[in-house]
Amino acid sequence: MNELVLVLDFGGQYKQLIASTVRSLGVYSEIVPGNISAQEIARRRPIGLILTGGPNSVYAPDAPGCSAEIFRLGIPVLGICYGMQLMCHVLGGQVSPGGAGEYGRVKVTPAEPAKSSFLALMSHRDCVTRLPDGFTATAHTQACIAACAHAQAKLFGVQFHPETKHTEGGRELLRQFLYDTCGAAGDYKLDDYIERQVAQIRQTVGSEQVLLGLSGGVDSSVCAALLSKAVPGQLTCVFVDHGFMRKDEGDEIERAFAKHKLHLIRVNAQGRFLVKLRGVTDPERKRKLIGEEFVRVFEAEATTLGDIPFLAQGTIYPDVVESGGAHGAVIKSHHNVGGLPDDVAFRQVIEPLAGLFKDEVRALGRLLGLPAKLVNRQPFPGPGLAVRIMGTVTEKKLRLLRAADAILREELERTPHRPSQYFAVLTDTRSVGVKGDDRTYDYVLALRAVTTDDFMTCEYTPLPHKLLGRVAQRITGEVPGVSRVVYDITSKPPATVEWE
Ligand code: XMP
Repeated sequence: MNELVLVLDFGGQYKQLIASTVRSLGVYSEIVPGNISAQEIARRRPIGLILTGGPNSVYAPDAPGCSAEIFRLGIPVLGICYGMQLMCHVLGGQVSPGGAGEYGRVKVTPAEPAKSSFLALMSHRDCVTRLPDGFTATAHTQACIAACAHAQAKLFGVQFHPETKHTEGGRELLRQFLYDTCGAAGDYKLDDYIERQVAQIRQTVGSEQVLLGLSGGVDSSVCAALLSKAVPGQLTCVFVDHGFMRKDEGDEIERAFAKHKLHLIRVNAQGRFLVKLRGVTDPERKRKLIGEEFVRVFEAEATTLGDIPFLAQGTIYPDVVESGGAHGAVIKSHHNVGGLPDDVAFRQVIEPLAGLFKDEVRALGRLLGLPAKLVNRQPFPGPGLAVRIMGTVTEKKLRLLRAADAILREELERTPHRPSQYFAVLTDTRSVGVKGDDRTYDYVLALRAVTTDDFMTCEYTPLPHKLLGRVAQRITGEVPGVSRVVYDITSKPPATVEWE
């Protein structure tokens, strides 16, 4: 068992970033609901608790709360933003509306004169105006108490966000909390993860067979590498071509994996997926139908291959969290989690990466010896182009989007720009244009390029206008059916990476 830090979730957008930063500092962390009981916390024996931020005021009628008991367990606590306000509120301090609030990078001045000021990311309206007994203010901004501590009880609060890169010294602050306050030894390493998972997979699978859904993406490829290390000779990888792949992608995946010693079966299921989606416009419905159809194809293959009892998937932690699996709100049902039907005809679904973040999965892939090109591939959603076509999905729209997307990739890959993810989206809106002397009334196509480490938040990539102009010119010239090209300049949040 690793040392554990629990991240208590009060709805903050950075909860995953907190948990992954803690892990990257060598301490295993898990996100749990903010209202977890003190008994449950005590049972799990964490070395520290981190309370996340959140969008509420502690006085809002439905504001998420926590029990005062958790602060008396003797476990060190770090409250961040709303987490600090909640801790102070619960322990008898006062939280008040902070006027205009503070948003963005703000100068923080430590109380200790020997320490220098630094810039920290703030995003709050309310602030703590009276500290609970035993606490002292350890830093201020012009508008608020920026940090507080009850050193003896090992309770700490920061109004700013140390987990983001925008806070100077933020990572160091978290490191000090883990190692100096919680006394962490730092026993979490990915090599151990491999050993543990290999042992667990062997124990679960025994001498039986496993069928893995392989999409060619990073997650399922790393999963394949892990499974072939654990149970070589007992693994069949099934690549389902649902017809929503990008240009030539199905053949490329088949070719890439043919080189490896994997038993790979390609199922051409384009027709049946398209039939399932006929007339469907709701994004969640699309995702669920695709998730279910994937499983039905896997079941049919498993039967053909002689009743394979185990289905493996490359599900990762953010898929679980965004699908509402870790108690949060459903943002979108990832095809392999929220889209998984209740009645799966396998004895067990194995998801050895379900506890890992994307950067950990990539690191695991490198440790398992996968080529850099594969490990660093940009993500492609399981439901593919079906969630990049707004509204109904038809063969004609798929052809159009594939062509436009290929042009974007081709032009961008000729430049040194490498956003974390880039693609085209076919909107359901048509607009008037003119080609030659004729009026056109064709689709509006959107281009998207984002920069991110974790895909949980992202910034839009400010690609040069010249490049965007060239792409737009080629698409409107070469792809019949597109009259206009727009560039999506929204970050996540408030948008998501994909449009559906
Ligand atoms: P969103 O759109 O949720 O995307 O901001 C975050 C990352 O996840 C990818 N994505 C998916 N990956 N199955 C997947 O395997 C899915 O259903 C799915 N939906 C989104 C998306 O491409 C981005 O990298």
